[in-house]
Amino acid sequence: MRKTLVAGNWKMNGRVVQNDELVTTVLAGLAEQALTEQVDVMVFPPSVYIAQVEAATRESALSVGAQNLCEFADGAYTGELSAEMLVDVGCSAVLIGHSERRAMFGDDEQRVAEKVKAALVAGLTPVLCLGESLEQRDAEQTLSVVTEQFKSAVAGLKLPEITRLVLAYEPVWAIGTGRTATPEQAQEVHAHLRVLLAEYGQSVADTVRVLYGGSVNADNAAALFAQQDIDGGLIGGASLKAKDFLAICQAAAVGRDG
Ligand code: 13P
Repeated sequence: MRKTLVAGNWKMNGRVVQNDELVTTVLAGLAEQALTEQVDVMVFPPSVYIAQVEAATRESALSVGAQNLCEFADGAYTGELSAEMLVDVGCSAVLIGHSERRAMFGDDEQRVAEKVKAALVAGLTPVLCLGESLEQRDAEQTLSVVTEQFKSAVAGLKLPEITRLVLAYEPVWAIGTGRTATPEQAQEVHAHLRVLLAEYGQSVADTVRVLYGGSVNADNAAALFAQQDIDGGLIGGASLKAKDFLAICQAAAVGRDG
């Protein structure tokens, strides 16, 4: 059975002092309830704070990832970060294809595929984000949009590489809006992604975790995580509040048995 995963995407938020407070409180809460026995927990701070968070979490089960990487190896790419650098500072995972990067920073299908490949080569877990806009949902294109995003991102990969992915379904209209997908709406897309994964073999479908993201909070997390194909969450705003993030981790620990 897939272990549930809760990932906190801090986006462009945080300062040294607040990060320390947040991480210290989250670590204490996870330990107090022994939550990491039932749920994997990751945080994705802004890159300038990765080393800080990695140092604070080194002796714990909380792992650290990056929000982005460059598709190229080290070299003359001013302002960019390579996959090997992220590994070097202690990252185990990286977000790829987040809708904010697709919409604002030119991460198109081809670049997303190249970033996934670069992450895998370096040994990072790519957390591949997918999701439709409101216009696409209204036009009943949701399943075709996520199919295209998934297939183009994995097109050049070998089977064992696909098994190392984490998928995150994040409907664009639910991100930062307070308007979450209903558990049934999310489950429909997750089940579809599971079918796409099964095209590479049942073990791929059984192994790859598919997270839901988009206005997950302490109140709605349990109902989402109770769905059969929802294996945890990618959390934005609520991951910046230790109490809320811990409540979401607790809901994920209960998961489908809740
Ligand atoms: P919110 O939880 O703030 O809606 O953000 C979701 C998200 O984009 C996580 O990557």
